[in-house]
Amino acid sequence: MNDAPITDSMPSEDEIREALRPVIDPELRRSIVDLGMVRSVEIKADGVVDIVISLTTPGCPIRGHFQQAVAESATALPGVQVVNVGFDVLSEDEKGELRTKLGRGALPQGALAQVHNVICVGSGKGGVGKSTMTANLAAALALEGHRVAVVDCDVYGYSIPRMLGVHDRPKVNDQRKILPLEAAGGVKVMSIGFFIEKNAAVVWRGAMLHKAIQQFLEDVEWGELDYLLLDLPPGTGDVSMTLAQLLPQSKFVIVTTPQPAAQTVAKRSAEMSKKVNIEVLGVIENMSGFTTPGGERFAIFGEGGGQQLADELDVPLLGKAPISEPLRVHADEGTPLVVADPDDPAAQAIRQAARGIVAMTPRELPVFQEAAEPLGFELPVVTQHAPVIRTGG
Ligand SMILES: Nc1ncnc2c1ncn2[C@@H]1O[C@H](COP(=O)(O)OP(=O)(O)OP(=O)(O)O)[C@@H](O)[C@H]1O
Ligand SMILES: [Mg+2]
Repeated sequence: MNDAPITDSMPSEDEIREALRPVIDPELRRSIVDLGMVRSVEIKADGVVDIVISLTTPGCPIRGHFQQAVAESATALPGVQVVNVGFDVLSEDEKGELRTKLGRGALPQGALAQVHNVICVGSGKGGVGKSTMTANLAAALALEGHRVAVVDCDVYGYSIPRMLGVHDRPKVNDQRKILPLEAAGGVKVMSIGFFIEKNAAVVWRGAMLHKAIQQFLEDVEWGELDYLLLDLPPGTGDVSMTLAQLLPQSKFVIVTTPQPAAQTVAKRSAEMSKKVNIEVLGVIENMSGFTTPGGERFAIFGEGGGQQLADELDVPLLGKAPISEPLRVHADEGTPLVVADPDDPAAQAIRQAARGIVAMTPRELPVFQEAAEPLGFELPVVTQHAPVIRTGG
């Protein structure tokens, strides 16, 4: 507050704060008053009010929304003529308080403390070969002596169990932790497919989806891993946000086909990962050309999209996997091509990409020390040690 003369007809600071209650942070879905984001309210002479709003990040894209909503709410009060809205940024301590208030954070300390690298394999687009790449990259990394696990984050269209040839129902240990299944080569696997009846149509509500993925990360006995790969569903939506929230230090590998349309969509998912501060490690181009047994090459899905995307993002092109019937057949049979026929050209390309990933993750840091930035949605509270994920309504 300052010493400027205040006319009787002006509302008090408390009244102004109260008037700001309907201003909702669209990401956190709560009133900015409850969130402690109204830094200051200063009532000046001549009906002028200065209000400072504290944002979670300096470049907050919803600044304009706050500016307008705060000004409108305050000017609606009798006596208020002009509202100046300023912005600052919450301190680290304040952000911590906000996280506590929202009851959200990263995974509990130590949940994945022995996991050195988390790599999300994604693409905005469906059907470009994310799951095929994930399964084969995991097998390739295991072949090179790394301890590897895969989480199938595609709860609607899970395909990892089939591609890695694992189908049992996971067991639960004495500590009520779920034991992942093991595929050939020692790759540990967790998928929603292990818990639901074959071909059952599962309707997932958003909250359940977050919960399932959180449980896969938290309630599964992963042990020590060099690489935890996450096979993302198509799209840039909820799952990516959940992962960014839970695994702030994970890295992203983008799969794209050579055609410009796929690349544009893939770029969107790269932008999304940038927005949530996840580093893009590199690009894998899949389905890049088909070579006949006679050696003639056809660029069925065009040419160059992977390299172009990699250049635009300023990250390496980790590999180019050709269209390959053996790659598809082995994925269908649950025997990844990189293991079944390591010298096949598609297998070689994926093995090269795996080596690129290793080269780009030289530091073996545990990934779960810091709490994540608040991200704009609420994760449900997860019942600890729930051994089975319930599905359906
Ligand atoms: N390089 C390739 N050559 C031949 N077939 C391929 C290749 N890559 C993937 N496939 C096949 O294309 C289909 C789609 O691949 P996949 O399921 O890996 O894609 P996805 O991106 O994970 O799809 P979704 O978006 O549905 O999760 C599968 O049948 C797979 O076997
Ligand atoms: Mg898939």
